[in-house]
Amino acid sequence: MTDTFDRSIKIAPSILAADFAALGAECEAVCAQGADWIHVDVMDGHFVPNISFGPGMCAALRSHVKTVMDVHLMIAPVDRYITAFAEAGADFITAHLEAGPHIHRTLQAIRGAGAKAGLALNPGTPAEAVAPVLDEVDLICVMTVNPGFGGQSFLEGQVAKIRRLREMIGDRPVHLEVDGGVDPTTAQRVVAAGADVLVAGSAVFRGGSIADPAPYGENIRAIRSAAGAPDGA
Ligand code: DX5
Ligand code: ZN
Repeated sequence: MTDTFDRSIKIAPSILAADFAALGAECEAVCAQGADWIHVDVMDGHFVPNISFGPGMCAALRSHVKTVMDVHLMIAPVDRYITAFAEAGADFITAHLEAGPHIHRTLQAIRGAGAKAGLALNPGTPAEAVAPVLDEVDLICVMTVNPGFGGQSFLEGQVAKIRRLREMIGDRPVHLEVDGGVDPTTAQRVVAAGADVLVAGSAVFRGGSIADPAPYGENIRAIRSAAGAPDGA
C-alpha cells in the first residue's frame, strides 16, 4: 500500500454478499472485475446480532486480495483482537465508536500495530462524536444501515451526517467511507455529500458468480458511473 493519500472514488465490495464456500476465488474474481478495495465484515454475535469471519479467515484471504484489505470490526471488545487482524494482513482496521469506552486507545493500538485506523459510526451516533479523535483516524465509516446484515435499505437520514463529516475532515488525509445499502442510486447522493469509499455487498455481487463474474464488473461500473467517477477498472 502506498502512503500517497487518494481521495478518488473507490468501490469496496463487501464479501458478506459473496459465496462463503469460495471466498478466495470470490475476492480474486471481484478484484479482476474492477474492485478497488475488498471490505471484510467481522461480526461477533454480541456487538451485532450476526456472526461472520475472524482473523484466521482474513489471513487465509490475504493472498487472494490483490488490493487493499479493509476490515470492519463489528465486535466488542476490540482491543484484544487488533494484533491478530494486523498480523492477518489488514490494511485498514475499523472499530466502532460504540464498541467500548476507550476509542482513543483503540485507534492508537491499531496504528501501533501497523495498520490504518478506521472509526465506524452507527446511525444513531452524531458526527460531532468524532471531533476529539479526528487526528487519530485514517478513515471514518458512516453506517447507512444498522450493522449486522447485508441487503438492508439505505438510511437516507445519514446523508447529512456524511456532509457534516466531510466539512469536519477538511484537508486531513482521512477517507470518508459509506457502508450499507449502497447502489447506483444512493452512491450518487453519498458521493455528492463527500464520501470517497463506497462499500457495497448485494449491489456488487447480485447476478454474478465465480463461473460468471462479468455481472460483478457491470455492477461495479454502474455504481462508479452513478457516482460520477471515471471508470477505474
Ligand atoms: C453491514 C455491513 C455491510 C454490509 C453491506 O453490517 O457492515 O458492509 O455487508 O451490505 P449491503 O451493501 O448489501 O448493504
Ligand atoms: Zn461493513
